[in-house]
Amino acid sequence: MSDKVFRTCPITRLERFGRETVLWIQAPDIAAKAVAGQFVMVGLPRPRANFLKRAISIHAIDGAEVALAVLTVGDVSVALSRLTVGDPVEVIGPLGNGFDLDIQGRPVAMVAGGIGHAPFRFLAAALADQTKDITLYAGGRDRAALSGLGWADKMGLKTVLASEDGSIGQGGYVTDLLGDLSPATQVYVCGPLPMLRSVQALALARAIPCQLSLEGKMACGVGVCLGCTCARPDPTEAYAKVCTDGPVFWAEEVKLDG
Ligand SMILES: Cc1cc2nc3c(=O)[nH]c(=O)nc-3n(C[C@H](O)[C@H](O)[C@H](O)COP(=O)(O)OP(=O)(O)OC[C@H]3O[C@@H](n4cnc5c(N)ncnc54)[C@H](O)[C@@H]3O)c2cc1C
Ligand code: FES
Repeated sequence: MSDKVFRTCPITRLERFGRETVLWIQAPDIAAKAVAGQFVMVGLPRPRANFLKRAISIHAIDGAEVALAVLTVGDVSVALSRLTVGDPVEVIGPLGNGFDLDIQGRPVAMVAGGIGHAPFRFLAAALADQTKDITLYAGGRDRAALSGLGWADKMGLKTVLASEDGSIGQGGYVTDLLGDLSPATQVYVCGPLPMLRSVQALALARAIPCQLSLEGKMACGVGVCLGCTCARPDPTEAYAKVCTDGPVFWAEEVKLDG
């Protein structure tokens, strides 16, 4: 039997940070099975289900509740951000492979662009019994784009910020913060494609162990539509399906510039 569950889940709590909404949903089956780095497909129940579901990373688990951090950008995320406590959402999950948690005593660097910080809260919790040496490098357009990072301070992570308009942290891109990253570090990355490419290139050049969580478009989330494929460095190898082979890949496993 599949580990995935399809559920209609009520919203139990809502938190808003700038353009991000954290939806806590009552989803005991998913909370019990999920591992850090996995995602769920989320949508609105009928009769409002006029959109496809969207992939959303599992942000945190608290007992039977699952948290989803949603950035308001388009059709589904706007609709999700307008829901209130008690409203139901349709959820399929947990999906995907999750992060490799075997850090072998290394300090951890999490590199997030925008809403790319979403899977790192669950990851930080999953690594808590292995290390306290976790640094979150986070970048965004402006101060508001970085306002959903309070969880990192609460969990005791070191945070290093960059904003494109210079309103918080160093002015520029998050990738500008990574000059001193050493091969002794275990790096996890999630964010927009140009950022992923840049960190992947750095990691490969310096032989830094690095896992990339890809956030491309997904229609089905379960390996059926082939809408999420990603090339492999070896052109003779079949394309990866991000939804089922990923969304997490080692930097050596995918070709992001093709
Ligand atoms: C594995 C995986 C995990 C994901 N996890 C999350 C998550 O935890 N939280 C989350 O909010 N999203 C996450 N996404 C993205 C999410 O699936 C949707 O793509 C996103 O919510 C936009 O859907 P929409 O219907 O609101 O916008 P659409 O109507 O599909 O798109 C509207 C416009 O917004 C643009 N857009 C899409 N994403 C972004 C973005 N991040 N920043 C700026 N513009 C964007 C689109 O290119 C388009 O131009 C994840 C995607 C994947 C594949
Ligand atoms: S999203 Fe359909 S195959 Fe991956």
